[in-house]
Amino acid sequence: MNRILILFAHPKFEQSRANKALVKMVENKEGVTFHDLYERYPDFNIDIISEKKLLTDHDVIIWHYPFYWYSCPPLMKQWMDVVLEFGWAYGANGNALQSKKCLNVITTGGTRAVYCSEGSNNYSVNEFLRPFEQTARLCNMEYLPPFTVMGTHNMSDEELEDYTLKYEQLLYELQQSLSFDKIKNCEFLNDTPQLNKVTSK
Ligand SMILES: Cc1cc2nc3c(=O)[nH]c(=O)nc-3n(C[C@H](O)[C@H](O)[C@H](O)COP(=O)(O)O)c2cc1C
Repeated sequence: MNRILILFAHPKFEQSRANKALVKMVENKEGVTFHDLYERYPDFNIDIISEKKLLTDHDVIIWHYPFYWYSCPPLMKQWMDVVLEFGWAYGANGNALQSKKCLNVITTGGTRAVYCSEGSNNYSVNEFLRPFEQTARLCNMEYLPPFTVMGTHNMSDEELEDYTLKYEQLLYELQQSLSFDKIKNCEFLNDTPQLNKVTSK
């Protein structure tokens, strides 16, 4: 069974609705380590050795956060800046993360419809996520499409419940033998047949 590490960053988790629902499902799940960066490092003083050990101990790395100004909240960026060191994560002999799977799980206020060249945000989510994709690639990880929960502002409780069940199914698939080759080219992991059949109705 693949071991999953969820690196979670939400600067205002006490005010969260969408991520609270997703995180509630994740907590205490066997084989899944939930790591809340803002809870652990409120002063931004990241313990690099401990973070590296966590990474080493897992097979699938998830960056989970609400989309803030078309990117991640600052502590997630800080985590990347200080943990993914040259000579360890990338560069000469930097192969500690080699072959691990890596993906983003994000919630966005904007709907899927506004994230395209004709929409008000002009670019797709995957275009905004290019720095994460390339970071994963530079670190020799296998980058997977994101799992997205979009349009959170006007989302009903029922829709949110559906996304939560889909996220749960995704974790299960990632733990088992999800055929990564088949899903690599889909826009979002949400679109894979394995997740499409999951619904609360
Ligand atoms: C500072 C800030 C920046 C944000 N930037 C974006 C953005 O660039 N794109 C977007 O779709 N939503 C943006 N949002 C909306 C959040 O992504 C949305 O409220 C969040 O994903 C909902 O999850 P939550 O209920 O767990 O907070 C932003 C919100 C805040 C507070």
